[in-house]
Amino acid sequence: MLRKEQNDLLTQTGPGTPGGRLFRSYWVPALLAGELPENDCPPVRVKLLSERLIAFRDSNGRYGLMDEFCAHRGVSLWFARNEECGLRCPYHGWKYDHTGQCVEVPSEPEASGFAGKIKLKSYPLIEKGGVLWTYMGDPASQPPEPEWEFITVPAGHTYTSKRLQESNWLQAMEGGIDSSHVSFLHRGDLNSDPLFKGAKGNQYNLSDSRPVFEVVESPGGLYIGARRNAEEGKYYWRITQWVMPSFTMIAPRGNHSVHGHFWIPIDDDTCWTWSFDYHPIRELTAAELAAMRDGKGIHVKVEPGTYRPLANKDNDYLIDRAAQKAGRTFSGVEGIGMQDASLQESMGPVVDRTKENLVSTDNGIIMARHRLLKAVKALVDKGIAPPGVAGEHQRVRSAAIVLPPDQPFKDGAREAMIARPSVAHASV
Ligand code: FES
Ligand SMILES: [Fe+2]
Repeated sequence: MLRKEQNDLLTQTGPGTPGGRLFRSYWVPALLAGELPENDCPPVRVKLLSERLIAFRDSNGRYGLMDEFCAHRGVSLWFARNEECGLRCPYHGWKYDHTGQCVEVPSEPEASGFAGKIKLKSYPLIEKGGVLWTYMGDPASQPPEPEWEFITVPAGHTYTSKRLQESNWLQAMEGGIDSSHVSFLHRGDLNSDPLFKGAKGNQYNLSDSRPVFEVVESPGGLYIGARRNAEEGKYYWRITQWVMPSFTMIAPRGNHSVHGHFWIPIDDDTCWTWSFDYHPIRELTAAELAAMRDGKGIHVKVEPGTYRPLANKDNDYLIDRAAQKAGRTFSGVEGIGMQDASLQESMGPVVDRTKENLVSTDNGIIMARHRLLKAVKALVDKGIAPPGVAGEHQRVRSAAIVLPPDQPFKDGAREAMIARPSVAHASV
């Protein structure tokens, strides 16, 4: 349970809010690189942390991310002409370069220097691993570029998708660190989804629906261990990584790729759910890629030309009551991603955390909120950079591992929880 002020603090991320300042400490994913596929392609609207921005790629391939609205009289630069290294507002022809600097005001004499005095707010936009990342904080505190393993493995090893989620980021993220729901909500999918099935660990998962959770602080966030019984008195551990503020990595299954999410606020009522899948030591197969594009695993099929899921709240997520009754799906909603999103959106845009009744399996959520609140306070009161900014906090992996009963998971899986180039992930 959170008090109302605490709930507001963590769920509001607009300019000037403490939670917004937290998010503005990190490089965050803004766009898929494929959304700006070539030089001088059409600009793209981007709303992030309640700010309306425009992204574009100039004639030299440089990326720009800046205020959506023309400094003259507020026209949306989504209508702009992308030409000769800049965006030209179609209303009166003011032109901006990739840093938001106004470079031409055709109605004014050039000698007046007027254009030089006009600059739109802008943020850096860099490509890494097929994703365009931005940093929206104080330029003086800009951290080194992100180092998540899914963006540093070779391009053929990794696949990333994004979808619109019609809820606040925090309740979406809390679903990502609440692995106790897997034995219920996703139980129909473990043995059928092409990106999950066949792993030995699935049987441990399904035969023990009372996992014991152990949550341990990590440098960047939390290690969330879920312990289930394996053979000969041993334990099967599924270890989720949470790195602040909203990166999670789900424990892998067999030789399948390893996957996880980022939840990035669009505004306080909606967020982007970023979903990535990668294999540290091999390329993804054509069949795996086809399944991911088809909305299998943690990915979701979206309406063409948008990132809104095909199954959404307007069509009741295409719920299939017969499948629910027969147990083919536990909730009646098809696909792991939409099973999560449908329930998280059903809580309302921002769930009222003053009314919850948390239990022991919610320990990960409780500790994550605690760390977030602590980090916001340290940042606002003392200017201390939050956990998860440093590259070493980002070089992490989730793991699925069988350990002797007397070995704490954080010791037994110590090596497995660190990303090491060309070393396979630990997975059962
Ligand atoms: S509103 Fe953009 S140039 Fe006038
Ligand atoms: Fe889930």
